[in-house]
Amino acid sequence: MKPGYMHYDASHDLITDNLLDFSHLSFVHEKSLGGTTQIAETRAHVDLLSNGVRLTRRVHGSVPAPYHVSIGAPRGPVDRWWIYDYLIPGVLLLDSGVRPAGTTGDVEGMLHFHSCQAITPSGPKTTHYFFMQAHSFKLDDADITEHLYQSVVGAFGEDRRMIEAQQAIIDSNLPAPMLGLPMDAALAQYRRLYGRILQSEASA
Ligand SMILES: [Fe+2]
Repeated sequence: MKPGYMHYDASHDLITDNLLDFSHLSFVHEKSLGGTTQIAETRAHVDLLSNGVRLTRRVHGSVPAPYHVSIGAPRGPVDRWWIYDYLIPGVLLLDSGVRPAGTTGDVEGMLHFHSCQAITPSGPKTTHYFFMQAHSFKLDDADITEHLYQSVVGAFGEDRRMIEAQQAIIDSNLPAPMLGLPMDAALAQYRRLYGRILQSEASA
């Protein structure tokens, strides 16, 4: 794996919102991490933890992400998964991957990743964003590690452009309230838990 860092001109809240809704992969990352609207069309299962939320999203009989194809994933129908904990105050621990559709176990063509991302405010509306992406195949191939790193950096740049634009719109004080949508279930649960913990710390 290779670690990375970027800085955001946006509040950590907006980055958390983004990381709790991977339906954005279909649109923000169409040509990098996504590749299909099936991701957004599949509802994630959300479990509430004592210190965060756990999301499970599986897409069956789909297409691989463009960056999967570039490192040897099968082009045919594949199953994809994203299982992660998002923990207070802002740590994401992700197990994800792609495998030939309908297969189980350690099979040829499976690509398996572990990712850790951690965010912390650097100011009221600026944020440090730390990340790493590990792979469990071709461990002796530094080119794969570097290629994955560059793919992730490119994709996170797509997130940052979108999230910094959100921040600019919010700061312009348009008379438009935030509205929750069905894909915001994890955000809502996480924000409630986060608010409760903030409140109990403030009153301690
Ligand atoms: Fe993203």
